[in-house]
Amino acid sequence: MPTRRQFLHLTGSGLAVSIGSALLSGCCSGDHCSSAHPADMSPPGNQPRTPLRLPKNYSGAGLSAEATVHEWTSGRSSNVLTLGGSYPAPTIRVRKGELFSVQFTNKLAEDTNIHWHGLVTPADMDGHPKDPVKPGASFTYRFAVRQRPGTYFYHPHAHEATGKQVYLGMAGFYLVEDDEERALGLPSGEFDVPLLIQDRRLLGGPSLAFEPTMADMMEGFLGDTLVVNGVPDPQLDVAAGLYRLRLLNGSNARILKLAFAGMLPFAVIGTDGGLLDKPVSTTSIWLGPAERVEILVDFSTVGTGQSVMLQSVAFTAPSGGHGGGHGGAMAGGIAQGTALDVLRFDVRRAGAAGRVPERLLPLEQLDPAQAQRTRAFTLAMNMQAGATRGMHTINGKTFDMQRVDAQIAFGATEIWELRSMDEGSIHPMHLHGVQFQVLSRSGGPLTPSDQGWKDTVLVFPMETVRVIARFNDYRGLYLLHCHTLEHEDDGMMLNLQIG
Ligand code: C2O
Ligand code: CU
Ligand code: CU
Repeated sequence: MPTRRQFLHLTGSGLAVSIGSALLSGCCSGDHCSSAHPADMSPPGNQPRTPLRLPKNYSGAGLSAEATVHEWTSGRSSNVLTLGGSYPAPTIRVRKGELFSVQFTNKLAEDTNIHWHGLVTPADMDGHPKDPVKPGASFTYRFAVRQRPGTYFYHPHAHEATGKQVYLGMAGFYLVEDDEERALGLPSGEFDVPLLIQDRRLLGGPSLAFEPTMADMMEGFLGDTLVVNGVPDPQLDVAAGLYRLRLLNGSNARILKLAFAGMLPFAVIGTDGGLLDKPVSTTSIWLGPAERVEILVDFSTVGTGQSVMLQSVAFTAPSGGHGGGHGGAMAGGIAQGTALDVLRFDVRRAGAAGRVPERLLPLEQLDPAQAQRTRAFTLAMNMQAGATRGMHTINGKTFDMQRVDAQIAFGATEIWELRSMDEGSIHPMHLHGVQFQVLSRSGGPLTPSDQGWKDTVLVFPMETVRVIARFNDYRGLYLLHCHTLEHEDDGMMLNLQIG
């Protein structure tokens, strides 16, 4: 009889196999069926789906937080909040080493700001909730781009309102490029596709209301519809060639386990902190809220005239006895762990053959023997807390703007143990001010999304995840928090003082 911990791990990372076999049944046996089989695909245009749109590019003229109307599909619109006037917010492209600066204006009636997620910036540029931009006010964010080439993003970090503002539309891509990366000859232009994946509650009517119940605060605010780049149930016409897909889970709480129908293999080339040193080939990948992964996928193996669906496959989500039912409230949306279609790729034309490079970019491996100290952060539920706030704790505490919870020596290398004592939730834990590397998971081996430099890592129920970081970028006040935004806004966040 497996222990609960083993069980959760098995259901967590072992499920790709059973899902895979289910999808493959009747066509191939075993997991060596490497190319998608036509039986798993519908011919293009079989079911109507909406053409994917790409986020617009940032013009360079500054960004405003403003209310506008977003058209999901023709005739279906909602009032949204945006950064830069569009949902998703415009894609910002910068070069490593560049001095980036943007004038930000808050045209909303509430406090907001911008956090540059995954970028290591001076503390006063990081969008800490102690640094709101007031309604009508402006602030210039300015920092040197030190990050490795890769996929980052930006979103507000307003005190106790991050979940609401992100849900209502405020998030966009921030892509870092450089010459070394360009020299790799990765797919570019139309073959380099940013995909912001989110879930929203769109079935109840045009209003994108964000009114979490007690149960939504527990489970996180889950939607009933997956949207990609602000388009529900999308499809994308592609060529039968190699594509670079930049996948960002911008959901408040939805955990994705991405795989192509038919278990089409793909190569993971990047995670949160940019490109890996070499591609990792796989058929499915976890993507928790705020995590990014870049993959290379070759649609020539699908065949012209065929389609392949990118899905989030089913997994056993925890239900530790504090899900629906508290205060009579049921969590809305589709249950965590349910299989969902994300984006259908319709292969319409011949494409250029691409090549997956054998090597990507050099990647320093931090050495645990160099760590000066080990710190533990315990993630737990406090059911004694007030009816609506303070239920999600780290080291028994909820967020206090004025309190410093961990003092870290500048330049120190530390091992952090993220210890879940919570049977009821998977927590995507995020660190500001630094990128880290994942050393181990008590629940099983590291997964492809644990590779490389990370800023967000999934901690499964009752699991301990060990990470290592070197705090030598900037001094100042940063954050550790859960990126299930309802947990964050509930106070599952601590202040870290570096230096
Ligand atoms: Cu993407 Cu502190 O957040
Ligand atoms: Cu962040
Ligand atoms: Cu959490």
